[in-house]
Amino acid sequence: MFTLAHLSDIHLSPLPRARRRQLLSKRILGYVNWHRGRKFVHRREILDLLTHDLGERDPDHIAVTGDLVNLGLPEEYLRAADWLHHLGSPDDVTAIPGNHDAYVRLHPERGTGHWQPYMESNAAGEALFATPKDGFPFVRRFGDVGIIALSSAIPTMPFVAAGKLGKDQLSFLASALDRLGREGLFRVVLIHHPPLPGQASWARGLRDAKKFREILRKHGAELVLHGHDHRQTVREVDTATGPAIIVGVPSASEAVGTRRPAARYNEYNIEKAGNGWRVEMVGRAAASNDQVWECERRVLREC
Ligand SMILES: [Fe+2]
Ligand SMILES: [Fe+2]
Repeated sequence: MFTLAHLSDIHLSPLPRARRRQLLSKRILGYVNWHRGRKFVHRREILDLLTHDLGERDPDHIAVTGDLVNLGLPEEYLRAADWLHHLGSPDDVTAIPGNHDAYVRLHPERGTGHWQPYMESNAAGEALFATPKDGFPFVRRFGDVGIIALSSAIPTMPFVAAGKLGKDQLSFLASALDRLGREGLFRVVLIHHPPLPGQASWARGLRDAKKFREILRKHGAELVLHGHDHRQTVREVDTATGPAIIVGVPSASEAVGTRRPAARYNEYNIEKAGNGWRVEMVGRAAASNDQVWECERRVLREC
């Protein structure tokens, strides 16, 4: 059995002090939004509650699917790197960026480059699929489980939180899925945006969702994990190799009692069953009494 934990949309707080010239961009809108409301929603103490629970349960691996920061301030990336180090070693944690991590155009050295050890293949993954020069998708392999990590994070205009994979990444994804499929691995795809058409509006959605779904249908995957919506959703797509389960998880820092579900992470217990796989999902959510409780336990597939 392999246990994979999935958390997303960290929206790390508190926000570092921003200099005036750093706000002469799309950041000014995010800054106003943060101080008007989001800072009451994304709470550090809630995130800490969840990650403490996660640490005690000690899964085999942790996937973090983006939106680690809020406004893309250089100091935020450093703080997020520090948070990742506390979560686990780069061998035990895989991270991908979300739209907030590409809030403004920033040289990687000042931005997501600080998370690089968490955003690259491992030796077993690289042996199966060589990482393209743009860095995505990268593959990590842990025994029978193969993780394909994508980046849908692109800088966008104000009021737009859309994502895009692009032609190259989509075609690399197709070959990675084939390669891992031939190897008989349980394929997990990580992406920040909800990847199916109709899951999000034009302004918030994945621009190439239709193409992504076509690739999924044709090449197959067992599990697709995403964030961005700050809600729990489970979808299924029929593929050439059987059902692909697509799961979105709420934000890992959402306070209890907001319009969205309270902070939650999911655990997947993955094991071989006959010629296929058995996957059980366990939801762990923050409650109002400063505890984390098992809010859901459900078998997602058994074939
Ligand atoms: Fe988010
Ligand atoms: Fe997002």
